Amino acid sequence: MKYLLHTYGCQMNVRDAEAVAAILEAAGHLPAINEDDADLILVNTCSVRGKAEDKAVGKLGLLCATKRTAPHRLVGVMGCMAQRRGAALRQKIPLLDFVVGTRQQQAIPAILDRLAAGERGIVQLDDPGVAPRVPDAHLSGGISAFVTILLGCNRRCAYCVVPDVRGAEYSRPAAEVIEEVRGLAARGVREVTLLGQSVMSYGRSNPVWERGAPSPGGFREDLPRLLEAVSAIPGLCRIRFTSGHPSGCTPELVRAMREILLVCPHLHLPVQSGSDRILGLMRRGYTAADYLDAVARLREGRPDFALTSDVIVGFPTETAEEFDASRRLMEAAAFDNTYIFKYSPRPNTPAAAMPDDVLAGEKVRRNQVLLEEQDVRGQRLNEAYVGRTVEVLAEGVSLRNAQRWSGRTPTNKIVVFPHLPSIAAGDLVPVRITSAKPQALYGEVVLPEG
Ligand code: SAH
Ligand code: SF4
Ligand code: F3S
Repeated sequence: MKYLLHTYGCQMNVRDAEAVAAILEAAGHLPAINEDDADLILVNTCSVRGKAEDKAVGKLGLLCATKRTAPHRLVGVMGCMAQRRGAALRQKIPLLDFVVGTRQQQAIPAILDRLAAGERGIVQLDDPGVAPRVPDAHLSGGISAFVTILLGCNRRCAYCVVPDVRGAEYSRPAAEVIEEVRGLAARGVREVTLLGQSVMSYGRSNPVWERGAPSPGGFREDLPRLLEAVSAIPGLCRIRFTSGHPSGCTPELVRAMREILLVCPHLHLPVQSGSDRILGLMRRGYTAADYLDAVARLREGRPDFALTSDVIVGFPTETAEEFDASRRLMEAAAFDNTYIFKYSPRPNTPAAAMPDDVLAGEKVRRNQVLLEEQDVRGQRLNEAYVGRTVEVLAEGVSLRNAQRWSGRTPTNKIVVFPHLPSIAAGDLVPVRITSAKPQALYGEVVLPEG
């Protein structure tokens, strides 16, 4: 069968989609070139905001309508919305062939067998009583890979649907993670990003190391130990992890980020708001001062350290002054980039019981203000790179300009540069930055002397 995957949502979903693709290919299926060519279309969904769900439902409706002219085509839904709405999705979209939860990637080939035998409307959701098995399959060819180390989330921020859909935290055994990364490095992967919703909680909810096993560098905490173990794997040149939480920025973690050379000087550390009252309502577990303190510790003596974040505007009861506190915090923390979200009430979350009282137009305005200010800040911070030579991990042809290549700095800045025949994907290339935009740097490859 030829399959096509549509993925919405975060990096976790991008990773799950890759795992499904690799699982399908191992079962003999091939990637389709487009929808018309596909016998199986799987939509990998996100539930984080109402709009994300509406988009996926619309897409699924359109895809099911194509069965009129392609009756053999199978349409399935996976990911967070599939898990959250389950069988109800089939009531809404009756032609949907199957619905699978967020921990069911490896069950898909067996589901396809059942569909081939004539069954329809299969719904297979996650069972909280069953210990998950995280798929380790990857597609070949990339130079950068995501590796899931922590499933689920135990934090329960007041606005967030993720703990409901992704389930309780489960830390993968370290040996399993190391094995997966070793396999990737042996296939030419140069950079891994370790994934978890609140990744610094790795190992806290269930033990992932043999108790008492010594840590070579003296780091006692689980994530620093894992970073250390992964950094010892031959072939890798960069390690990242995401997303962070200020409470996880312990002295051990800060030290690991500083001392383990492969760990990149960049962190995605969502702040959500700059107002202590709103942070309290959000149940984030820190104040603006705590957040800035974590930032100061991460940045101490490292002016190059890059920080990106998420901010929600229009959380219930957020006043104009409280919104201004978010603006001030974003400037004080000097975010290199920020993803800004308009608050969207999610079913069964504590925030959904609060009044969604910031008017839609006002949310749009606050969103716009933060975007504009982030652009100015991003431009200013990126201009500081002009004239400097940075190390770029070459990825391939630029999405922005097919005549050029792109890659990233250790600080996760996108760099666009002219390709030279001697440069292959996966090379570390010195690039002298000649100009900057808020979202990208542009430069020339520095050729070795002589
Ligand atoms: N686990 C990550 C966030 C995952 S969701 C973390 O805590 O760092 C990605 C982002 O979506 C969040 O950081 C938040 O900014 C945004 N978000 C989550 N729920 C939302 C909601 N109900 N309305 C608007 N934005 C939301
Ligand atoms: Fe959601 Fe909070 Fe967990 Fe992030 S840490 S996934 S925002 S509950
Ligand atoms: Fe969306 Fe699920 Fe990620 S809700 S943000 S795809 S964990």
